[in-house]
Amino acid sequence: MLVTSALPYANGPIHLGHLVEYIQTDIWVRFQKMRGTTCWYVCADDTHGTPIMLKAQQEGMTPEALIEQVGKEHREDFAGFDIAFDCYYSTHSQENRDLAALIYQRLKEAGHIEARTITQLYDPVKKMFLPDRFIRGECPRCGARDQYGDSCEACGATYSPTELKNPVSAVSGAKPVEKETLHYFFKLSDFKGFLKDWVHRKGHLQPEVAHKVDEWLQSGLRDWDITRDAPYFGFEIPDAPGKYFYVWLDAPIGYMASFKHLCAGKGVNFDDYWGPDSSAELYHFIGKDIIYFHALFWPAMLHGAGFRTPSAVYAHGFLTVNGEKMSKSRGTFIKARTYLDHLDPQYLRYYFAAKLGAGVEDLDLNFDDFTQRVNSDLVGKVVNIASRCAGFIKKRFEGKLAAVLPDPDLFHRFLGAGEEIATLYEAREFGKAMREIMALADVANQYIDENKPWVIAKEPGREEELQAICTQGLNLFRLLVTYLKPVVPSLATKSEAFLNISSQPWPDVSTEPLLNHRINDFKPLLTRVDPDKISAMVEASKENLEPAVASGPLAAEPIADLIDYQEFAKVDLRIARIVEASHVAGAEKLLQLTLDLGGETRTVFAGIKAAYDPKDLVGRLTVVVANLKPRKMRFGLSEGMVLAAGPGGDELYLLSPDEGAQPGMRVK
Ligand code: 2FM
Ligand code: ZN
Repeated sequence: MLVTSALPYANGPIHLGHLVEYIQTDIWVRFQKMRGTTCWYVCADDTHGTPIMLKAQQEGMTPEALIEQVGKEHREDFAGFDIAFDCYYSTHSQENRDLAALIYQRLKEAGHIEARTITQLYDPVKKMFLPDRFIRGECPRCGARDQYGDSCEACGATYSPTELKNPVSAVSGAKPVEKETLHYFFKLSDFKGFLKDWVHRKGHLQPEVAHKVDEWLQSGLRDWDITRDAPYFGFEIPDAPGKYFYVWLDAPIGYMASFKHLCAGKGVNFDDYWGPDSSAELYHFIGKDIIYFHALFWPAMLHGAGFRTPSAVYAHGFLTVNGEKMSKSRGTFIKARTYLDHLDPQYLRYYFAAKLGAGVEDLDLNFDDFTQRVNSDLVGKVVNIASRCAGFIKKRFEGKLAAVLPDPDLFHRFLGAGEEIATLYEAREFGKAMREIMALADVANQYIDENKPWVIAKEPGREEELQAICTQGLNLFRLLVTYLKPVVPSLATKSEAFLNISSQPWPDVSTEPLLNHRINDFKPLLTRVDPDKISAMVEASKENLEPAVASGPLAAEPIADLIDYQEFAKVDLRIARIVEASHVAGAEKLLQLTLDLGGETRTVFAGIKAAYDPKDLVGRLTVVVANLKPRKMRFGLSEGMVLAAGPGGDELYLLSPDEGAQPGMRVK
């Protein structure tokens, strides 16, 4: 069996929303492994695309350095939550480059790739084609301002970016222009018949997902643009210099590449899992937002290129926190790292398990419910059984369990429940599995309540009975933690150490009770959730969002290195009045300005011709760098510099002081 989780983008940290999926998949994989299935769990960072390229520029680093750093953080976060990948790789790898090229070649040879010239919006300042998400403008339907290039958040309209009114590039602030470019398309429509069949084959998709995909199939499949123009961080298309594979082409191929990397290290045969006749099972766990890619493009690509298709794609819903979308200002956009700084990961694994089912419903993390459930179930019910029995065994019987169970039927009842619990795990009905296990924990606690070891312990001559009751309790505890092991592996490992037993497989009818067996000292296996730590985590997650610098034109131009005041004070800025302004013969960008600095007159050549008509400038106040060394230009001597903001081109804003400022005043 080969299992994957979606590949997280390498431009941001892992947060609790991501973790729903990794925890869900990891539980399922751990369960499969405990049942004895050969099961590989692979994932990777999704490293390509425009957002990652721009983020690297913004951080002043190469994309390679950025993805390296983020990859390291992601691995640490996953390890912190006990997500046990068999291979965690990167889509920026040789294996992925080769596989992407191979799949593309095969699709092309089979006639599934078509070249077409398209018109796209282009940023003339950044000299790049703009993805829809990097264009902002007014909605062509309702006129709402500052909407994305593909859809309007105000009225829900979807449109093409060329329809947007007054578009601006979110990268540079420049006005985009339309430009033609040659792109390669994957002809998804070639696979209509294949997909209709694939989507409805039993078990491939959850029923509600199949229904949605069916609607897409009904409304017609559009061919998929798999090309992006340079500059782009990704894989160059082998026979098309300057053209790159769109990140979403090589991302799912990253599943294969990560597995290929694993195969090389572990001597596994790649084709046994991916070849057209593979009898292995292949499962993809994904979020409900990327169903289109995994239920349509991906099976079609695999099929068209002669590989096997997935056994199933399992989608899950989104995470809300305290009933609302995660929010940076409310402190509910919680990074994996921030969580780990405050709370035990076993809590979250258990809580998510308790709330997860096989469907695509959203899942709410409510902090009161979280505290209550973890404390009452894991600590109050499960760990409590061990702490109620361990002390007596240790103190009164030198850590040794009795030779027989007083109630073997009860032990067998717990064993018998294993198959039902396994069926629920297998079906990804983790919430139901947790309820079954907790119902058994109630039975175990009831057994102890009824047999009152703390009373018997005080009565002379009842030693044997005391040892037997505690032995019974600990044997029930051992089965409970084994059933919980896929969910809380660290708690299970600590429990195995305490019980002095090896790593437990899934119990079955032949599982023997622990008798005449020496256990180790009991150390607290899990402490209660401290609500103060939750508050501290929320506080640490609050971001002051006032200076909205994260996106917009500023994103294109990072803030320069820090300077101290002395350096700043060297710049002598003065208010100046523009007394004359004129075009300069032969100069493409310059205007000649005559400035009055309050008694002194200067000539300055300013590169603002594209933005200003000279006659509009006359009489205006502005700011000039008065102590800039005069510079000899082709058209004359420039004795200073006027200040303007903007990305350049015709997007320029000359600075002006508030009313009352006088020429010659120093700007400080
Ligand atoms: O939506 C996302 O976060 C993508 N990075 C998921 C990619 S999954 C796979 F196809 F690679
Ligand atoms: Zn609108």
